[in-house]
Amino acid sequence: MTFNSILAVIHLITAVCGLGLITALALMARKPGWANAIFMLQIFKIVVWSLIVMLVTGVGMLWATDWMSEHTWWFRISFMFFLALFAFHGIAQGTLKKIVASGTPLAASPLLGKLRTMTMLMSITLVLIVLLMEGKPF
Ligand code: HEM
Repeated sequence: MTFNSILAVIHLITAVCGLGLITALALMARKPGWANAIFMLQIFKIVVWSLIVMLVTGVGMLWATDWMSEHTWWFRISFMFFLALFAFHGIAQGTLKKIVASGTPLAASPLLGKLRTMTMLMSITLVLIVLLMEGKPF
């Protein structure tokens, strides 16, 4: 196994196991009666560490392939989406922290709508990144 393929395997496992949890966050924001806010905060932490692993392994793969993909549009656009995903994550996590600090149940919080929007945007950006990174259409 080459260094590049080891990084690619870590990249893919982290995408599936770590970032896959974004769907669970979006689902819990849609069904707040069944969700647990403290558990959701724990998932947000796993997701941010997964994003860091994606960045490190992604940069590692670029380095191992002499920065070949750096000039392609699929990479440039997906990297913009990656930054957007990071931002949506920060806003969603901050919103949930405010909800928890206020002591209001998740289902009754006036901030629930913002949490729903942000977790939905996280899911959509994740799908777009996977489409671009896997399909490399241009
Ligand atoms: C949400 C974050 C990310 C997701 C879900 C994601 C997902 C993927 C997927 C599914 C592949 C295809 C693997 C394959 O075809 O074998 C891939 C490849 C790749 N990704 Fe990512 N990625 C993410 C972030 C990043 C970042 C931040 C970078 C770089 C800074 C990066 C760089 C790369 C590179 C260089 C490849 C290899 C492309 C090739 O086959 O030549 N990725 N990624």
